[in-house]
Amino acid sequence: MAVLEIQTYPAPVLKEKARPVAAIDAEIQCLIDNMADTMYNAPGIGLAANQVGALHRIIVYDLTPKENGRNLNVIINPEIVAASGELVHNEACLSVLDYSCDVKRKACVTVTGLDREGKPVCIEAKDLLAVVLQHEIDHLDGVLFIDRISRLKRSLYKRQLQKSLKK
Ligand code: NI
Repeated sequence: MAVLEIQTYPAPVLKEKARPVAAIDAEIQCLIDNMADTMYNAPGIGLAANQVGALHRIIVYDLTPKENGRNLNVIINPEIVAASGELVHNEACLSVLDYSCDVKRKACVTVTGLDREGKPVCIEAKDLLAVVLQHEIDHLDGVLFIDRISRLKRSLYKRQLQKSLKK
């Protein structure tokens, strides 16, 4: 297992669409292990494969408070099959440095996909879990949370980023 480098905005790979996983082979299992290591090391509560430069439709997440141990969740080829309601949550991302912003999303989502053994999973999520699933699945489609905020806020972020890169 290894901690991988996390790609940060504006890395082109974050704009790309990840491809469905056709076979859950040793390479994919290794990628999942490394994604989990990378997420825990960051630390973060969710990570999509694009963020480590791999264009496979895989997300990992763990919303368990640290003191309660780890509960790694993996979804391969995740898909939102139902969504309802509306919710605003202050989001941040390991790929968007030094920034957080309120983002409006669906309050409840149903997500289907496969676990790392290839068994079908169906997750009915609300609140933070619903936010995390939508945020991570967005990554697989090349979408960042800053793509879901106003143009004004996005341009302010870009200016802030440029300044911090010059330092
Ligand atoms: Ni993210």
